[in-house]
Amino acid sequence: MKLAQRVQRIKPSPTIAAAAKARALKAQGVDICDLTVGEPDLDTPDFIKEAAMQALREGYTKYTDARGMEPLRKAICEKLERDNGLHYTPDQIVASCGAKHALFNAFQALIDPGEQVLIPAPYWVSYPDMVLVCDGEPVIIPTTEETGFKPTPKQIADAITDRTRVLLINSPCNPTGAVWERELLEEIAEIVLKHENLFVISDEVYECLVYDGRKHVSIASLSERIKERTIVVNALSKTFAMTGWRLGYAAAPKPIADAMAKIQSQSTTNPTTFVQVAAIKALREPGDFPQKMLELYDFRRHMIVTALNNIDGVRCRMPEGAFYAFANFQEAIDLKGFKDDYELCDFLLEKAHVATVAGSAFGAPGYLRLSFATSEDTLQEAARRIKEALWGDRH
Ligand SMILES: Cc1ncc(COP(=O)(O)O)c(C=O)c1O
Repeated sequence: MKLAQRVQRIKPSPTIAAAAKARALKAQGVDICDLTVGEPDLDTPDFIKEAAMQALREGYTKYTDARGMEPLRKAICEKLERDNGLHYTPDQIVASCGAKHALFNAFQALIDPGEQVLIPAPYWVSYPDMVLVCDGEPVIIPTTEETGFKPTPKQIADAITDRTRVLLINSPCNPTGAVWERELLEEIAEIVLKHENLFVISDEVYECLVYDGRKHVSIASLSERIKERTIVVNALSKTFAMTGWRLGYAAAPKPIADAMAKIQSQSTTNPTTFVQVAAIKALREPGDFPQKMLELYDFRRHMIVTALNNIDGVRCRMPEGAFYAFANFQEAIDLKGFKDDYELCDFLLEKAHVATVAGSAFGAPGYLRLSFATSEDTLQEAARRIKEALWGDRH
């Protein structure tokens, strides 16, 4: 069957595929330790569920403005002011069906065929494919553990061409947990401002999960000039354990917000109406849920990183944010004679019944991503099984 070329340019999301594989084995009754999960294991807080149910009872069941109802966009502006020191007006906000949709709208609004998007690696799996769907060219900027998985300003400056339209920043980062410091962002902002057609898309969906007293800084908050060149993307998905509710948003200079809204008006229209009402409640009165989740995941972060570093041939740095351990398994791969991290990943799923995601999916061969948004028992058991599967003959 003939399908459009854009379909052939992209692949299905590898994280969703890995999770589906784990789910299929679980359905067959196999006891899987699933560390593929890209969402909090906690349930959405009751006060947000109540707000959604109340909204349904009150008849919030019709279309809204494609970019989201005005009270929601006001609540998003209040949140951005309170938490990020960012001043926006509601006409600069577009609420979408998750951050993924907001990112998609942003790429659609900015990229013409052949234009480039700079993506530091390791990167969240969807960025390159989203750019490809928009006929753009992803340009990968490799980073290493030695620089904390952050690019140097020089790397970014050197990668810019007259076709570069967007620099993508994802801090805290999925999969590495890297949190970009203010000084690094300041240097990058300087570089961006030297190129008049260059924009930053700043994906801040993990902003609530930053450990050890570090602070999340939005590049848009550094100056009015860089804010005029930035599209801030965020969502309620991770902060309030609302991944299935599909509510994200973008804050952007008005012409870009208008362009994104126009695209959205011709695709999904508005995000689900009663979800918008519940989101207003969550954004205005977040309560202590995000802080409690941070404390819980901080504990698990130490647990899994310590356990991984106790396995021969595995090295894992402490992530600064998000809920993933991004562990270097290269030595184990070499010692055991695996072809690559994909083969190791399959081996761990089949032999140890531990589901992980191969680093290659994130542009980082030799690594595995292990989510710690799961129970402490599962994490302990997963580490025990990995050790046993790799080195059982030795211990
Ligand atoms: C870095 C990053 N950005 C965006 C998303 C998508 O978020 P949402 O579920 O709100 O679409 C994810 C989800 O895993 C993510 O990890």
